[in-house]
Amino acid sequence: MKFLITGGAGFIGSNYLHYVVNKYPHDYFVCLDALTYAGNYNNIKDLENKDNYKFVKGDIRDNDFIDQLFKEEKFDYVINFAAESHVDNSIKNPNIFADTNILGTMTLLNASKKYLVKRFHQISTDEVYGDLPLNRPDLLFKEETPLHTSSPYSASKAGADLQVLAYARTYKIPITISRCSNNYGPYQFPEKLIPVVISKALNDEPIPVYGNGENVRDWIHVHDHNVAVDLIVRKGRDGEVYNIGGHSEISNLEVVKTILKELGKSESLIEFVKDRPGHDLRYAIDSSKIEKELGWQRTYNFQEGIKQTIKWYIDNQDWINDIKTGKYKTAF
Ligand SMILES: NC(=O)c1ccc[n+]([C@@H]2O[C@H](COP(=O)([O-])OP(=O)(O)OC[C@H]3O[C@@H](n4cnc5c(N)ncnc54)[C@H](O)[C@@H]3O)[C@@H](O)[C@H]2O)c1
Repeated sequence: MKFLITGGAGFIGSNYLHYVVNKYPHDYFVCLDALTYAGNYNNIKDLENKDNYKFVKGDIRDNDFIDQLFKEEKFDYVINFAAESHVDNSIKNPNIFADTNILGTMTLLNASKKYLVKRFHQISTDEVYGDLPLNRPDLLFKEETPLHTSSPYSASKAGADLQVLAYARTYKIPITISRCSNNYGPYQFPEKLIPVVISKALNDEPIPVYGNGENVRDWIHVHDHNVAVDLIVRKGRDGEVYNIGGHSEISNLEVVKTILKELGKSESLIEFVKDRPGHDLRYAIDSSKIEKELGWQRTYNFQEGIKQTIKWYIDNQDWINDIKTGKYKTAF
């Protein structure tokens, strides 16, 4: 089987490729990535010598290029990780989020329809459901929870989900969608909370925390997310949405304090900064559907996962330094 993995040089996509290229030597994986500021070829450089893998640089918004690629490669499966993914950037520059996340997804859907792809899988996010109150631990996002977005990022991801569902209904193309909570793990671009905190703490720099740090996220290790995606793509039912969560609801402040404690650093590094506009309060996922239907279970609890993640960033400080100096842009 031949797979197209878009956004494979990013955080989650590169972890996915490491997992599947090694696990399925008889399948073939084409990684397509535009190498935007968030795409880092160093994340996937070690896959270069694999016989069942190749990298193609290109943009999912480029209709002619995508059409030609699908025509030549005859993909069986398409998994769309590619996206603009940083909420803060979406507040400063919303248009590119609609462009990449909605129109880029539609370009892939058009080609999947034309070249009769067996399954188009869209990597979505729990952020499409909006947020939950902090004082109602009984409430969780289910697959039927109405979409109710807060940021230009989440609105663009919801727009993409609606197009995927519309193509399934109108053109009968086989699709699945997964909506996952906040990921952490190796290769996460140091603009997101956990790598920012680790990197700044290692250098004894002030650690910015939005508002009073009370916002709660349901943290999941990226490997658990990717195992779930692989199960959905291979065994999930056509047309279905699957939630994926980590059963680890933790406030941002608690995350920061856990990392500081693990690194033996003082909490005095914490610096509370003006809150993000429209900042979602709490995300919490009900992942019972994928657990019951596909037998998925998360394997990392946050305490173990964060220790392993911190170790990875300590062992790979060159990886972060290359990003800080901009050298990573010349890796491809
Ligand atoms: N990070 C999370 O916690 C999280 C949680 C749930 C869902 N998601 C979703 O998972 C997916 C991957 O997220 P991530 O954190 O790995 O993001 P990321 O920003 O680390 O990676 C995105 C990748 O997409 C590539 N890309 C961007 N625009 C492109 C374009 N026009 N054409 C081709 N490639 C392009 C970038 O170069 C980059 O390699 C996204 O769809 C995101 O919405 C992320």
